[in-house]
Amino acid sequence: MYHHTFSSVDKIGKGLLRSFDELTPNTGFKDDDIVRYVGLGTGHAKGTAVTWNDDGDSPYDRLGPAVRDFVAEQLADDTVRAKVPGEEFRLTVFQVRNYADDKQIARPSQGFHQGGGDHVLVTVVAEEDVNGAVHMLALAEDESALVFERRLGVGETLLLDDRTLTHHCTPFTPKAGGRAQRDLIIVSLARTDAEARG
Ligand SMILES: [Fe+2]
Repeated sequence: MYHHTFSSVDKIGKGLLRSFDELTPNTGFKDDDIVRYVGLGTGHAKGTAVTWNDDGDSPYDRLGPAVRDFVAEQLADDTVRAKVPGEEFRLTVFQVRNYADDKQIARPSQGFHQGGGDHVLVTVVAEEDVNGAVHMLALAEDESALVFERRLGVGETLLLDDRTLTHHCTPFTPKAGGRAQRDLIIVSLARTDAEARG
């Protein structure tokens, strides 16, 4: 059971920030009033090399080059990899912009859940005017046993053990009217190397 936070500020450039503005609205969630912007990509990482799948029939936008580069840089970073057990992984990457205004609350997650792999990396790329969005980690076997509860700063990454922990992010509203938005990159890693647990 582990979780770590560290800075990814050095990997966030203008191209990555701009890529969130290029996402198309996605309303295919439970509540059609809640609009998010979602990009999805899947691939494989072996050592520091990342290969991407052709996600032809995804309902979401494809990841642009800036997002792919960010993920590849994150996985090639020695200090990150030292914290992530395993050599080979199946990757699922979500690029998400959530927003809230006077008509709707943003719900980054619907409650405690797991990503279904071995590790999850959540990076806050940008945010504006956000009140809420507290990240919470609890033991998977006992959701009442919290092990982490705080906001993440812009540029901060939370790495968590997806096997033994369950995670949630609380809803958010604008701090002072108007619009609030929050841009995230979520990387889920499932080990495919020999040591992977069944
Ligand atoms: Fe999640």
